[in-house]
Amino acid sequence: MAEVVIVPSADEAGSIAAAAIAALVASRPDAVLGLATGSTPLTTWAALATRGPDLSRVRGFALDEYVGLPAAHPESYRAVITREVVEPLGLTPELVRVPGDDGGPLAGAGERYERDIRAAGGVDLQVLGIGRTGHIGFNEPGSSLASLTRVKTLAEQTRADNARFFASVDDVPTHCITQGLGTILRARHLVLLAFGSAKAAAVAAALEGPVSASTPGSVVQLHPKVTVIVDEPAAVHLAHADYYRHAWANRFDWERFE
Ligand code: PGA
Repeated sequence: MAEVVIVPSADEAGSIAAAAIAALVASRPDAVLGLATGSTPLTTWAALATRGPDLSRVRGFALDEYVGLPAAHPESYRAVITREVVEPLGLTPELVRVPGDDGGPLAGAGERYERDIRAAGGVDLQVLGIGRTGHIGFNEPGSSLASLTRVKTLAEQTRADNARFFASVDDVPTHCITQGLGTILRARHLVLLAFGSAKAAAVAAALEGPVSASTPGSVVQLHPKVTVIVDEPAAVHLAHADYYRHAWANRFDWERFE
């Protein structure tokens, strides 16, 4: 069962997600974090920076990367992760990976990324946003529920949504290399964040709709440990919002029952 937390603001969501990351790193200084780009995780990174844990031994694996942008391009996910995560939070650049960044050919890069995640012991905590298409990572509708890291074609909706980071939509790459839904499901804890009314339909479909390749984010229903943190506008289509609020307000207090 996913734990669904409905909060008044993205800042509050970031505080909750940052607390989960800080607790993980306190117990395991060389924890493996799954890193997401986009606007959604920014309040998480900001809250984590305020807490200031030592993240110098943390290893990171990004969810996805554009194909065809040089790594130095400011909107490559390597550049975004460096600017928004590695530098402000003090991660060690050599310990942070992005799909396809190993210098080898694009063919086989997905398999090599999978091997490298496995060699690191797997992802302990994966931060996730969700796209308006219902994608997680760049797994667009139709992605196999068991997919692993591979090259994909971006949906036109996703290119249009990401055009805000580029001079025009024509500059947005057409392809990406992304962790698969099967890759994401191997992480030991998923923390999915979503803010704003534009995400409400995708959030409801992912959490309460059928598990389906048509809604890639619905794979979170198959995972044993998921924390979903959404603001009120992103929660408006949730049929069970009252239960989620009740469950969070009355979350189990182990000390009371031990
Ligand atoms: P966003 O993107 O955080 O920029 O809204 C989320 C996603 O596309 O996964």
